[in-house]
Amino acid sequence: MREEKLGKLLASMTLEEKVGQLVQCNAGQFIENKMDITGPDGEILPAEELNRVIGSVLTFEDAAQARALQDKHLAADPHKIPLLLMLDVIHGLRTTYPIPLAMGCSFDDGLMTECADMARKEAAACGVHVTFNPMVDTARDPRWGRILETNSEEPLINSRMGAAFVRTAQGDDLSRKDNIACCVKHYAGYGAPEGGRDYNTVDMSERQLRESYLPAYKACVDAGARLVMPSFNALNGIPSVANRWLMNQVLRGEWGFSGVVVSDYNAVGELVAHGVAENMKDAVRLAMAAGCDIDMVQNAYYLHLAELVREGTVSEEALDKAVLRVLELKNELGLFENPYHGADEAKEREIYLCPEHREIARRAAEESAVLLKNDGILPFPETLRKVALIGPFAEERHLVGFWSRPGAWKDAVTLPEGLKAMLPALEVITERGCGAEIGDTDISGIERAVAAAREAEAVILALGEPENDSGEGRSRADLCLPGPQMELARRVLAANPRTAVLLFNGRPLALTELDAIAPAVLEMWYPGTEAGSAAARLLFGRANPCGKLSAGFPRSVGQCPLPYNRMNTGRPKPQPDSGVFPFTSSYLDSPNLPLYSFGHGLSYTRFETLDLTLSRETIRPDETLQVTVTVRNAGERAGKEVVQLYLRDRAASVVRPVQQLIDYKKVFLKPGETAEVTFDVTEEQLRFWDYECRYVSEPGAFEISTGYADHPEKTRVFTLTKD
Ligand code: GLC
Repeated sequence: MREEKLGKLLASMTLEEKVGQLVQCNAGQFIENKMDITGPDGEILPAEELNRVIGSVLTFEDAAQARALQDKHLAADPHKIPLLLMLDVIHGLRTTYPIPLAMGCSFDDGLMTECADMARKEAAACGVHVTFNPMVDTARDPRWGRILETNSEEPLINSRMGAAFVRTAQGDDLSRKDNIACCVKHYAGYGAPEGGRDYNTVDMSERQLRESYLPAYKACVDAGARLVMPSFNALNGIPSVANRWLMNQVLRGEWGFSGVVVSDYNAVGELVAHGVAENMKDAVRLAMAAGCDIDMVQNAYYLHLAELVREGTVSEEALDKAVLRVLELKNELGLFENPYHGADEAKEREIYLCPEHREIARRAAEESAVLLKNDGILPFPETLRKVALIGPFAEERHLVGFWSRPGAWKDAVTLPEGLKAMLPALEVITERGCGAEIGDTDISGIERAVAAAREAEAVILALGEPENDSGEGRSRADLCLPGPQMELARRVLAANPRTAVLLFNGRPLALTELDAIAPAVLEMWYPGTEAGSAAARLLFGRANPCGKLSAGFPRSVGQCPLPYNRMNTGRPKPQPDSGVFPFTSSYLDSPNLPLYSFGHGLSYTRFETLDLTLSRETIRPDETLQVTVTVRNAGERAGKEVVQLYLRDRAASVVRPVQQLIDYKKVFLKPGETAEVTFDVTEEQLRFWDYECRYVSEPGAFEISTGYADHPEKTRVFTLTKD
């Protein structure tokens, strides 16, 4: 529809019809479906009246439902304004790729793009117009259950992968029926709740917020994300959905965002619980003043917004602006001409879980797995004839993560299935070794597991966290392997030292004891549909692990939060990180450093950094510094290496991190092959928020290193001159 016609449409609408465009309900209010709703249900309203005016729905199941929802609404809406259909497509729709935290460990923006393209096609066929993705919250505290949903503790990775998802999913023309709009979330700072406890309050300086938490949202807005979702949390005392500074001054003012703001689930009504709104009507006033366009599920807008406009508390102009933004998005998606967009049942049958998509999912699972430790027992030789597969994940099919679609777990390849398909002659003895539920205290099965371990040539010990122990509302105060898993590990490792541990979990865990007793630990995360296939190939060397941790693993929960890009303090603990040094920033009972640092990950081959050279020793602000890292595959097997570039600003007007990732590149090297990996470093990469909270660079000396966090390999110094 032409833009000017939208204005005429708006002018023809009644006040209630305008408000309806800003109301969003679960699809289940209008049609039966088996979807899990993602929060407490809002007040169920009279569906007939609601269906006549409503602007959008979320959480529907498939193309048939998408078309039925649209038909039901359009039949009742006198203006024939199509619904917006929104859904959480976080890491795949039906073909599930690894959880975002695992994807971050691939350090591969191109792989993220491939996965996003697969998700886009399947979501469009399902009838999705908008996905509530990418989630790019910086998360530095593994106690927070939603760390699984972001790519990294490092905003650079979240920025690149989030922007790659937006560009790929939206394409260059949203009216194309296989493109979908993106809603970046959760704006802002949701990943830094006090105590690592979901929904808890967030309090930090504006500098910290701008330095470490806002960049990734901005990268997605700059990539063209059409929607933004404010976060549940209070940020410096003001819940995001009512935070005029955050929403009007920064998002729409500084960043020029002109798209739609959709609240998180019930977040508008929850302003009453936060204690900043007397009642729901007051909550609506606050949310509208902060530019929140759509009220998800709570129905606060439906119940109170028209009254606020009639009494003049909310101007009709503000209402019209919000409604026009929603109509413009629907128009850009081409919904007035084709309200079904990409919903296509035949297409669903054709592409869901198709071989090409399974191949992408399997490759992603392989490239996001991280080999945390290997004393040489991996890869297992294919000549093995008998292995014991032990642990609560030995036959588990729930390997797809909290935000996979309901039922997607049924498509997942289990470990026995993956092993059998790859090595039909391999005898696999399977024993859970502990209770029916992952984490329960039943240890009656340990003896049988120990016996199986004793008989086998080698053991695969599959441990982890229950799939629903990470995700929304799933924070933990401890980071141990739940239940008797460590008891099982001790006994099995004692019975057969040739034991490789596979981990399935949605957050960094505290694995200090496991690291001490296991000869090999392979972090699989929740790898998605092709879990068992990828695990089998990695265990037997048909795939060479290349993942690097995108979030560090602490030694204990007591160290959290433990960001890799830490400050030096005035009393840094001397290295090595052992022993007790009173009057330094250290613990009496623990080292400072994590067990496995950010950027850590082993391979079945051995990479050496031969050199790091700089094109010059000083650069002016308008010049580019070329950094060349020479890396060699010194092992017997081909593999991929992630070359990481870290910066340290030796002295600035504010404290700066001892190490900060500023770039990364992944290279494939055959045995004996050497590569020169070059990076262009510009003045912009040296910028930070200074003493007056301005985004600037400052002249002076900088160190640039390769290797990984806490483990620099080569370091060089250069100077940024004034000009
Ligand atoms: C949830 C989540 C949000 C999700 C929304 C819709 O509560 O916080 O990430 O997109 O509701 O399901």
